[in-house]
Amino acid sequence: MANALNKSALIKEALKARERAVAPYSKFKVGAALLTREGVVITGANVESASYGLTCCAERVALFKALTEGHERFAAIAVVARAPGAPMPCGACRQLLAEYAPQARVWVADSRKPRQIKEFSVRELLPHAFLDVP
Ligand code: THU
Repeated sequence: MANALNKSALIKEALKARERAVAPYSKFKVGAALLTREGVVITGANVESASYGLTCCAERVALFKALTEGHERFAAIAVVARAPGAPMPCGACRQLLAEYAPQARVWVADSRKPRQIKEFSVRELLPHAFLDVP
């Protein structure tokens, strides 16, 4: 598969996307970059609302952008934030990834240590996912 972009290049894209986070309440800026199997990169960052529950995570912003721009098959997603160890996708994002990007490798890194990349599979992050309405 066309997957020329390596881990650190995708992490770099996520770092750039993070600069556009709209996080006036938590101040916790998250950046995400999705890589399609065709080699296209779609980025996103978290967007918060004064009505806190309306906040959308960086991963979902990237995924929703990608899906609504016609992308369907994903090779990887990179996620960065200033988080010791690395930021881990929340449960809601794991669910959406399990549904729409089940084959994606998940690469996460602390934005201060972008070369220390942890890697997961979506299945590993959300085993026994709910995938179909019976
Ligand atoms: N956030 C993300 O963007 N991704 C995650 O995986 C976890 C949390 C955002 C949502 C909110 O804007 C801020 O981080 C604090 O929860």
